[in-house]
Amino acid sequence: MFILAIETSCDDTCAAVLKNDRILSNVISSQTDLHSPWGGVVPDIAKRAHAERIEPVIATALKRAKITMEAIDVIAVTQGPGLAIALGVGIAKAKSLALTYHKKLVAVNHIEGHLLSNIAKNSKGKPDRNILFPALGLTVSGGHTKLVYIEAVGKYKVVGETLDDAAGEALDKAAKMMGLGYPGGPIIEQLARGGSDTFLNLPRPMSAIKTLDYSFSGLKTSFYYQIKDWSGEKIASHLNDLAATFQKAVLDTLLLKFEKAVEIYQPKTLLIAGGVAANGEFRKAGRRLAGTYHIPLLMPAIKALNTDNAAMIGVVGYYQALRGEYVAKIEELERDARLEL
Ligand code: KG4
Ligand code: ZN
Repeated sequence: MFILAIETSCDDTCAAVLKNDRILSNVISSQTDLHSPWGGVVPDIAKRAHAERIEPVIATALKRAKITMEAIDVIAVTQGPGLAIALGVGIAKAKSLALTYHKKLVAVNHIEGHLLSNIAKNSKGKPDRNILFPALGLTVSGGHTKLVYIEAVGKYKVVGETLDDAAGEALDKAAKMMGLGYPGGPIIEQLARGGSDTFLNLPRPMSAIKTLDYSFSGLKTSFYYQIKDWSGEKIASHLNDLAATFQKAVLDTLLLKFEKAVEIYQPKTLLIAGGVAANGEFRKAGRRLAGTYHIPLLMPAIKALNTDNAAMIGVVGYYQALRGEYVAKIEELERDARLEL
């Protein structure tokens, strides 16, 4: 089965071609340069850029996979969650291609995409990464932070999630407070390498609360109040320490609940996914946790599968197609900015 996948839920215009769950091409046109002057994603700018880039990105994905539209069997598109007007561009394109070329269409949940990015095979059929069920996934990006109990592919239960900001969003906002660029996560990771992670006293929000939910807005506020009266010079002279302290507080908070969930659910595989999973310290902490409990851990093997991409949407699309879960009336498919898992 050949799948063309399209993803435009935020600020990356993405298309990929897969043969079953094997990636033949994975094209990502990042809009970071357009949004970074604004310190975050500007929906109108994202929409315009997606509209300009979607056709060339799809053409490149087909070309790299050495395939034509006629040979595609299924089109997979992100339905949500995400920025409504950004999602709309990918969905409109997917619908028009499906109708023009008489292809089947599957509508994919972006968060399921992040979770299954872990089992996407590269063009040589590797890695062979099986999930043993039940599994437990922690997916963390700029838009969501979710602990997911996975009974089987397609059967998910969100057992914990953020009640306010996503962890990546907290990193992005902290970076903005320090006068750094966007997205903040990777900049903070780099700066943190040279810093002390006990420089400020930051909370580990919700750690004393029994549920598996997260909260990051209090952490951000605490950080803000501790540095708000500092001069630009003082902040600049402590960037490494500030970054290391904030990053450690975010990662500790993420791992605390992940460990609690491992003890409750006794999973047979752990999965970590989403943009924040590109973070080296997060990956190390994940490996330590998995080692302690002797549970195999999957993390996307390459950075291009951590942050937003269409290959992960194609993998979900493949499994949906196997189950025959096609969009019944293509003309009527609508975006769902708040689509639940
Ligand atoms: O999954 P993603 O590309 O888009 C969303 O669905 O949001 O995730 C983007 C988020 C941003 O908040 C970004 O700061 C964060 O992932 N991120 C990182 C790293 N790379 C990206 N956070 C920490 N360390 C990184 N290396
Ligand atoms: Zn994402």
